[in-house]
Amino acid sequence: MHLPNYMEARTRDKRNYKKISFKFDSKIKNKYKGKTFFIKTYGCQMNEHDSENISALLTSLGFKEVNDYQMADLVLLNTCSIRENAHNKAFGMLGRLKHLKQEKKDLIVGLCGCMAQEAIVVDEILKDYKWVNFVIGTHNMYNLPNIIDKAIEENSQQIEVYSREGDLIEGLPVKRVNDFKAYVNIIYGCDKFCTYCVVPYTRGRERSREKEDILNEIKSLISDGYKEVTLLGQNVNAYGKDLYEDYTLANLLEEVALLGIPRIRFTTSHPWDFTDNMIEIIGKYDNIMPSIHLPVQSGSNRVLKLMGRRYTKESYLELFNKIKDTVKGVTISTDIIVGFPKETEEDFKETLDLVNTCKYDNAFSFIFSPREGTPASKIKDDVPQKEKEERLQRLNEVLNKYFLENNKKLENKVLPVLVEGISDKKNMYYGYSDTNKLINFSSDKDINIGDIVNVKITKAKTWSLDGEYYE
Ligand code: SAH
Ligand code: SF4
Ligand code: F3S
Repeated sequence: MHLPNYMEARTRDKRNYKKISFKFDSKIKNKYKGKTFFIKTYGCQMNEHDSENISALLTSLGFKEVNDYQMADLVLLNTCSIRENAHNKAFGMLGRLKHLKQEKKDLIVGLCGCMAQEAIVVDEILKDYKWVNFVIGTHNMYNLPNIIDKAIEENSQQIEVYSREGDLIEGLPVKRVNDFKAYVNIIYGCDKFCTYCVVPYTRGRERSREKEDILNEIKSLISDGYKEVTLLGQNVNAYGKDLYEDYTLANLLEEVALLGIPRIRFTTSHPWDFTDNMIEIIGKYDNIMPSIHLPVQSGSNRVLKLMGRRYTKESYLELFNKIKDTVKGVTISTDIIVGFPKETEEDFKETLDLVNTCKYDNAFSFIFSPREGTPASKIKDDVPQKEKEERLQRLNEVLNKYFLENNKKLENKVLPVLVEGISDKKNMYYGYSDTNKLINFSSDKDINIGDIVNVKITKAKTWSLDGEYYE
């Protein structure tokens, strides 16, 4: 049994890891034919992409995916620890599964993802959730088929969570949710250790994939008809630093652009590592989408320092303006935390000022959630909950005002949209523009899902735009 340990998870050394080619254990291939599975995903895009790998691993075991957990023989919760409500949702689901298991004795329940990396979660599972069949960490996910097989064969709870990353696994199978848009991991882990954040503990140190592996994956996506790739990492801007002397995200973006896939996105960018070279490359290639997620977290230098973000409001704004000036028509989105311990009304007003300056196109806003084991959870939190909720509401009002204002400027303009489907409600097509705006549109003519078409915008809303197909 391997149990997680945050102290170990914190350690970062220069030890070389090996690249290992994944091989499926042929003895258990299709062993569970006729059985079904359901995965519930709670986290970020990386977590979603992990679910695509897990889904393929379970399919190789013989399981077939169903979309109702009550119909499944195996239910896997792919969890997230970023905020307390993600935690609570997963535990809520475990409550429902406990009931289900009383009726369906053979139901197999497992937990993976970032919560599996937390000692307090695993302690609780060991103590109060003995009926959970297995827990598997983010670093050993590739071993899932064997763990499941062992849990079933031995009829005993399996806990396998390595506190630290091991080798870099290439060639994991993947069952992608979308036929036209694909996630491609470029770097795992995070070394930034922002004081509020669990990711450096749950995902380990930064490890870049070799550029050839990434480019080959994208080449095969292109030949499979994919139109868009999103390069993934908790901090994609650190790409290459651990692996190459002189090859960065700017170089990778350029090589991917030259492969000719119509749309390239990347997320998430930490402002600290955003270089001029990157901005130049993004501006130079039409197939690198002019839409950048640039989390700011706070507009107060005092709070940014407490958060360990490594930039000031001024340096963030300088970067923001450079991007706006160099990349034509770019939209910028952000993440903001309110109610950080010791955030004063003055600090909060500075965040509002920054939003008034940046006029973001989209944003995710959160109330600070103390995470066990992180430095920020130990700072005395003197902001009352009610005040935090009010700040979030005030912030959202200002953010929403700019979303709508920016969208209004697009009325009567024609935008390129990658068509993703038809929405049931309105019988309208939907998809995203190059600038990452959600667009619902009508068309007299049949449109192929997966095509990039022109849409004339007829009406702006806060979170989406309506339009009509434009020939
Ligand atoms: N790697 C990304 C962030 C990933 S987490 C980056 O640094 O840009 C996504 C967002 O969740 C963060 O940007 C932050 O705004 C929010 N977040 C992370 N930890 C949090 C916490 N403890 N409480 C509230 N929000 C948090
Ligand atoms: Fe968390 Fe900061 Fe790393 Fe983002 S950069 S994942 S917020 S530690
Ligand atoms: Fe959540 Fe882990 Fe992603 S904590 S946000 S699933 S890296």
